[in-house]
Amino acid sequence: MTEPKTAIDLLVHGASEVATPEGRAARGGARFGPLRIVKNGAIAIHQGRIVEVGDGDDLLRRFDATTKLDAQGGTVVPGLIDAHTHPVFDGTREGEFEQRLAGATYVEIAAAGGGIASSLRGVREASHEVLVANLMVRLDRFLALGTTTVEAKSGYGLSLEDELKCLEVIAEANRLHPVDLVPTFLGAHDVPPEFRGRKDEYVQLVVDEMLPAVAERGLARYCDVFTEAHTFDLDDTRRVLHAARDLGFGLRLHVDQLTSFGGAELAAELGAASADHLEHVSPAGIEALAGANVVPVLCPVVPLFLRESQEAPGRAMVQGGLAPALATDFNPGSCYLQSLFEVLSWGALRYGFGPGEALTAATLNAAASLDRADTVGTLEPGKVADLVVTDLPNHRHLVYELGRSPVRAVVKDGQVVLDASMPVR
Ligand code: NIG
Ligand code: FE
Repeated sequence: MTEPKTAIDLLVHGASEVATPEGRAARGGARFGPLRIVKNGAIAIHQGRIVEVGDGDDLLRRFDATTKLDAQGGTVVPGLIDAHTHPVFDGTREGEFEQRLAGATYVEIAAAGGGIASSLRGVREASHEVLVANLMVRLDRFLALGTTTVEAKSGYGLSLEDELKCLEVIAEANRLHPVDLVPTFLGAHDVPPEFRGRKDEYVQLVVDEMLPAVAERGLARYCDVFTEAHTFDLDDTRRVLHAARDLGFGLRLHVDQLTSFGGAELAAELGAASADHLEHVSPAGIEALAGANVVPVLCPVVPLFLRESQEAPGRAMVQGGLAPALATDFNPGSCYLQSLFEVLSWGALRYGFGPGEALTAATLNAAASLDRADTVGTLEPGKVADLVVTDLPNHRHLVYELGRSPVRAVVKDGQVVLDASMPVR
């Protein structure tokens, strides 16, 4: 007698490979690369969660699915997780891109009133509704490009009212859109024009008014600071992030991006969840991050986009035991790019990350940096069913192919939310 089949909501089958990192914590050092690869793989999903990952013939025999999604010989991977974005803005900055093509630097453009100040004008003038509509379009693109969780920073408002506006926009889009947003308060992104020459007073405003207001409304999970020679120094950063930590925020930092003055060491000292950029990190900074279990969030397209020559030492970080994440840093100024699949290739080309390493960085390690590795970042029983069906014949194409989206279908919370080319049967 044949066993009765188990009823489930969704079976994804027909994958040349299911490729996934494994575990519920960031993987670094020698454990950074290895994936579980299931040939002819399938994934059984019920009530939004993964029930089993295994051989397709076996799972088709044992499960009776309401919906079957045929991967048609493509590779299936976890939904990608973008651990660093600035997606709330109105208006783009292509003029600055062209200024850099003509030789200007990011810092020169900022000093002349462009840069973050330019996006600040756009955000302050835009209504809540316009900013939500903008963000919804960007979330559609993230989803279409295979990204299912996005860390989203404020940071172009830089007044109490405008920072709250940005975070409320993130909260509303999070309610409306299948993509999951993890909100970060970045009030210390730059000193706004009305506080020019009065940086200390602005830091005081962030600490005394903005942080408590954000905390009281529950609008952000993390607090971030742009620690840089032309923005906030180590002491400013300490003031903001000590206050943030006392209010219960997790900490993230933009550090060692354009200059080096101990930003990574500070991230370690503060016990931050992530230290981001790190192009100019020192060997001592790498050691400090490793000692404090901080996830380095690397954004390999940013120096390319800014025409800066210094790369983050991605391989040295892994050799030092770190567990890097890869992110887009999507924003209108320093990286107008939403495709994390594209970033996988740049992580390979810039840091020498292999396909398993790049995928781990943009899934499990990114999830760990956002305190979500218990629920997302891998394809394993019990985790939320967030996955991407690609048209790639094997996982090695994840880094090998540039310049096009490999996404065929996206499953979010167990629902087929995007199906580019396949009939759902
Ligand atoms: O991550 N570094 C600071 N923030 C962004 C750039 C923001 C902007 O130029 O608008 C970044 O590169
Ligand atoms: Fe950034």
